[in-house]
Amino acid sequence: MPENTPTPGAVPEGAADGTPHLQFRDVVKKFGDNTVLDDLNFSVSQGERVTLIGPSGSGKTTILRLVMTLEELTGGYIDISGQPLQYTERGGKRVRVPDKQRRRTTTQIGMVFQHFNLFPNMTVMENIIEAPVHVMGLGRDEAADKAEALLDKVGMAWKKDARPSQLSGGQQQRVAIARALAMDPEILLLDEVTSALDPELVGEVLGVLKDIAAETDISMLIVTHEMQFARDVSHRVMMFDQGSVVEQDSPEKIFTEPEHQRTQDFLRAVL
Ligand SMILES: Nc1ncnc2c1ncn2[C@@H]1O[C@H](COP(=O)(O)OP(=O)(O)O)[C@@H](O)[C@H]1O
Ligand SMILES: [Mg+2]
Repeated sequence: MPENTPTPGAVPEGAADGTPHLQFRDVVKKFGDNTVLDDLNFSVSQGERVTLIGPSGSGKTTILRLVMTLEELTGGYIDISGQPLQYTERGGKRVRVPDKQRRRTTTQIGMVFQHFNLFPNMTVMENIIEAPVHVMGLGRDEAADKAEALLDKVGMAWKKDARPSQLSGGQQQRVAIARALAMDPEILLLDEVTSALDPELVGEVLGVLKDIAAETDISMLIVTHEMQFARDVSHRVMMFDQGSVVEQDSPEKIFTEPEHQRTQDFLRAVL
């Protein structure tokens, strides 16, 4: 079982020229009349792990889905290493980035969802090699070797020929993590990856993620209700409510002496 605890320490310095790895600029997201994100600005540096906390319905999943381009921005911009993801500014106008370029940019981003959504009709191995073979054009043998190594890392190599339905929720989620890593993401998005699990299965998944945080420099944007985990892996915690960032600081500061009443109330309710 994994047992590394990453030591976040100092926030990584990031790109030499200071370009954020992920940047939200004046982001607005509406669903009909419902304004979910209201002029949201934040960034994540290269190698930084940022955790988003905040009440249910506050827009955390929407933020991650926008980065995956699973949702369309209503206003503003998201940049990946300074490159526009969905929209760009040209001659003072907001211009849509073509689908092909969007798809190319999103191959650098991996996401693990609350509900594992593995392909049910494929084996564990097939789930993992699917995107590397069909999106990245990797040969099957090479993809399988890599998948085997990743499955080993998440402790699931022994189940490579099983179907998702034959696995526990924790095992499925570990496979989903391996599947996301198989695409060599530079940015990893984690959306409440343990909240659909029985309590006794949470630890094995968080252990795997702590190992990955300790061993890689993948930038991460994490949504979780596991406050100890947030404390262990994050360089920075952002308290988010009603469409904007309430406050952000080191985990020590946020969890021991938050400035804002809304953060204090939220933490009192979840801890
Ligand atoms: N596809 C959608 N269509 C309409 N409303 C949506 C959709 N997705 C999310 N919402 C609304 O956006 C708000 C934020 O949702 P969400 O991002 O899931 O919050 P969180 O992840 O913080 O719980 C909620 O009011 C939710 O009902
Ligand atoms: Mg959510």
